[in-house]
Amino acid sequence: MKQALRSQQWFGKKGKDGFIYRAWMKNQGIPADEFEGKPVIGICNTWSELTPCNSHFRELAESVKKGIIQAGGFPVEFPVMSLGETLIKPTAMLYRNLVSMDVEESIRANPLDGVVLLCGCDKTTPSLVMGACSVNIPTIVVSGGPMLTGKYKGRDIGTSDIWRFTDDLRAGLMTEEELNMAEAGMCRSHGHCAVMGTASSMACMVESLGLSLPENAAIPAADSNRKVLAQLSGRRIVEMVKEDLKLSDILTKKAFENAIKVNAAVGGSTNFIIHLLAIAGRIGVPLDITEFDRLSNSIPLLVNLHPAGKFFMEDLYYAGGLPAVLKELDTILNTDCITANGKTLQENYQNVECYNREVIAGLNKPFNNATALAVLQGNLCENGAVIKPSAASPHLFQHTGKAVVFENIEDYKLRIDDPDLPVDENSVLVLKNVGPRGYPGMPEVGNMTLPVKLLAQGVKDLVRISDGRMSGTGFGTVVLHVSPEATLGGNFSVLQTGDMITLDVPGRTLNVELSEEELSRRKNQWKPLPPDIERGYVNLYVNNVEQAHLGADFGFLKGNSGSKVSRDSH
Ligand code: FES
Repeated sequence: MKQALRSQQWFGKKGKDGFIYRAWMKNQGIPADEFEGKPVIGICNTWSELTPCNSHFRELAESVKKGIIQAGGFPVEFPVMSLGETLIKPTAMLYRNLVSMDVEESIRANPLDGVVLLCGCDKTTPSLVMGACSVNIPTIVVSGGPMLTGKYKGRDIGTSDIWRFTDDLRAGLMTEEELNMAEAGMCRSHGHCAVMGTASSMACMVESLGLSLPENAAIPAADSNRKVLAQLSGRRIVEMVKEDLKLSDILTKKAFENAIKVNAAVGGSTNFIIHLLAIAGRIGVPLDITEFDRLSNSIPLLVNLHPAGKFFMEDLYYAGGLPAVLKELDTILNTDCITANGKTLQENYQNVECYNREVIAGLNKPFNNATALAVLQGNLCENGAVIKPSAASPHLFQHTGKAVVFENIEDYKLRIDDPDLPVDENSVLVLKNVGPRGYPGMPEVGNMTLPVKLLAQGVKDLVRISDGRMSGTGFGTVVLHVSPEATLGGNFSVLQTGDMITLDVPGRTLNVELSEEELSRRKNQWKPLPPDIERGYVNLYVNNVEQAHLGADFGFLKGNSGSKVSRDSH
């Protein structure tokens, strides 16, 4: 043990304060020797029936508890706000920073020596990791695991098919009954989305950063090995407390570089960029959005999963899981990074095997040479924008077309299927005011559904541009995270229908063919929308959220306040 247990500043106290701290714990039927002098481990639980992806977390927490007790620790489970991607309106992203504050303050204010973060649905992972980083005590992540692969008419389906099914319904290629059948077969078990969407990307992120035990990313929620991993993580966090292995010991610059490279190889979500930037900001590691492109652009796609490929997370697990992917990247990764189990990244994967080359391709014969993420620069996105080339249409990588501009989501919904909309297969759809401040909360609406008149002609993709985000399960030639967002009065704000836009993915540029003079003229005339700031949390959010290229965190939350124990209140 390198230092006295933090929890002793509660339970080790004499006199009135110690009496109060211990006596009320005992009302849970806990004998004194159950927690006296033992490492106290918090289990930060995002269980909620409103977060279906995390609905099995009570059981998972029991497995973690067993492990903590076996290793001589004292487990205490506590709830934090849970963000269910499918139900929360207007968007779970609006509350990511709020949850991170809940997590940070819950950990610091309580007698915890270490913490296990139970993460699953998209935002539950970054929000918990961000909050824990701002305290920086020993921490391990246990992900809930993906659902079993969905089934429809004898074939495998997953979340990415939602977009195809609904387009097919609109184009008359699918009936309501068939859609109902697909809906019933989509989510066959506990767990998060089974494609390489944001939740899976986040699970890969924590494993590649070294924040979890090996294999955390891909074990299905319904597989008994998920509980085994939870129990082993419970055992391990007690040891981490004894070793004083903190988040800042694991989350080095090299670890962040590894996460970016792995995200490229697995074809991870564009949301990965925003969340990793925010996590880096909390732990104090400098990270710039341009580094995502620099570190990703030479790494091809190795993992053949939806939405860029054809398999699912269950298949990734059977093929060897993330350790088998890491092994493929051995020559590219920073192999000496320390991970949660105390071993290096390389030690964790050196003895694993790949069992299915169709699911995990070799670096010498990748599944797809298109990179997972590209960062664009140009006069339409002064601070950058992102695109996922591996999920886009190669014939649109270099494209010039006339903008069809929608000023906000209501405008889009009103006019997208208007037969008179001036749109054809060369058009570029533009959606404004769906950014962090403008919506607010930066929803996942960037992969706008195409006009029904083009779908009927068989058009499958258009270049689409917005200051919003896209679900990690989405696909298409979709430019996202335009910064500065429209509501701030940059060049994107003054774009008009008919302007010529040029996207050049290989050249990493996004430009509008307007002179500086014309852009200045329009910006001088531009007026911000009248303030419509609500009270309460949304007011705090709108006034403090940073732009997407910085991670959309609150400026005042960046950094780390440590784990100092506050004064007693009795
Ligand atoms: Fe929870 Fe997809 S809705 S991970």
